Amino acid sequence: MLPEKLTKALNKQYTNEFQAAHSYMAMASYFSHLGYKGFANFWLVQAEEEREHAMKFYHFLVSSEEQPILGLLEEPKSNFNSPLEVTQKSLEQEKSVTQNIHALVDLAKETNNHPTLNFLQWFIDEQMEEEELFRDMIKKLEGIDVGGDFFMMLDKECGERK
Ligand SMILES: [Fe+2]
Ligand SMILES: [Fe+2]
Repeated sequence: MLPEKLTKALNKQYTNEFQAAHSYMAMASYFSHLGYKGFANFWLVQAEEEREHAMKFYHFLVSSEEQPILGLLEEPKSNFNSPLEVTQKSLEQEKSVTQNIHALVDLAKETNNHPTLNFLQWFIDEQMEEEELFRDMIKKLEGIDVGGDFFMMLDKECGERK
């Protein structure tokens, strides 16, 4: 069993991870619709990773003798002005998830809950990687024309993400 407010916050993050997957699925669809299969793959893989994050929360809650409870998901943004905008929105989303994770860590400290603190360590590192991933992609996209040679090379590179 966990302190009630910690269980509630972990369940909120369990839902948040699915919300992130939801939103990355919409971004993948945007690229698929434009015919940029590599970028679509990159965002589909990203959505899959978010579902894996959600499952980590699921299993942690179950192992802690708590019931994972999903909340409502919001409709994700589906229309974007450019691939760069999609990537900027992705970075914004990751930054907000990082804040959520850090707030959870604070709560785990406040309630002196060592298993939760230990569980969240992985997410602290993961969020640093996620932010870096999108920052790098923004840098690449900033200097190139959509549909141009470099853009198509990047699309191909993104198609290799597994
Ligand atoms: Fe995540
Ligand atoms: Fe993420």
